[in-house]
Amino acid sequence: TRLYCLFGNPARHSKGPVIHNAAFKDKDINAVYLAFEVQDAAGAAQAVRTLDIKGASVTIPFKESIMEHIDWIDPTARAIGAVNTIVNENGVLKGYNTDCQAAVAPLVPFGISGKTVCIVGAGGAARAVAHGIEAQNGDIIITNRTEQKGRALAETVNARFIPAEEMENIQADVIINTTSIGMTPKENEISFPPEALRSEMVVMDVVYTPLRTRLLEAAEQKGCTTIDGLSMFIAQAAAQFELWTGIIPDTDLMRNTIIND
Ligand code: ATR
Repeated sequence: TRLYCLFGNPARHSKGPVIHNAAFKDKDINAVYLAFEVQDAAGAAQAVRTLDIKGASVTIPFKESIMEHIDWIDPTARAIGAVNTIVNENGVLKGYNTDCQAAVAPLVPFGISGKTVCIVGAGGAARAVAHGIEAQNGDIIITNRTEQKGRALAETVNARFIPAEEMENIQADVIINTTSIGMTPKENEISFPPEALRSEMVVMDVVYTPLRTRLLEAAEQKGCTTIDGLSMFIAQAAAQFELWTGIIPDTDLMRNTIIND
């Protein structure tokens, strides 16, 4: 039996085990995926080596700190400054970032090249999303509560920065919320002003608890196309699965497994 796992803190509520184990079973792969709540990145990397763990997911707060403890880092992950996936290739630990392609995957059917994509937020999730959109030649707008952080990200991906106070004036084809607003919104708090939503827009939220955030509800009311955070979560997991096994998992099965869990 091959061992795969997740390192994070917290890690207890991760949906990783249910979807990866369902996919291993579906593809007849003799492997098991476990979640470990750990204290530090060095210990996590050492565990991979000691226990011959074949692959790992790395999540908050270790996506940056794990980088100095592994042997090779994919250029895209290096540019984003975060690793969410480890592949153990005969003792050589390789780091990748599948959040990046996952942000793009649900948008591919709508076409990204030449479209204006507004990213709300400038944290780790925003960096991965921005690099994914840049690679697809999207025209990027960054908006963020803290201007300095927003401008810094905008510079790295050739994007325009628009201050949060001017969000109502943003004209874009796609809106992507990467902030945690939506998980536990305060009264009337929403990641993007509903007045600025138009029916032609595609609106995506990386938050998936709840599945229908206030932003997605407002977008539905306006007649926009909506993409929930589970789509991106599953896409990043599917990309990990493929890196580990060389097999493309059934993403509908992954999604149904989470929804019925
Ligand atoms: P992650 O790695 O998950 O992206 P992060 O690095 O802490 O998390 O980034 C969180 C992002 O959400 C930031 O862009 C943050 O804005 P600031 O740069 O101003 O801190 C944004 N964010 C979180 N809570 C917010 C809130 N209540 N209102 C506006 N922006 C918020």
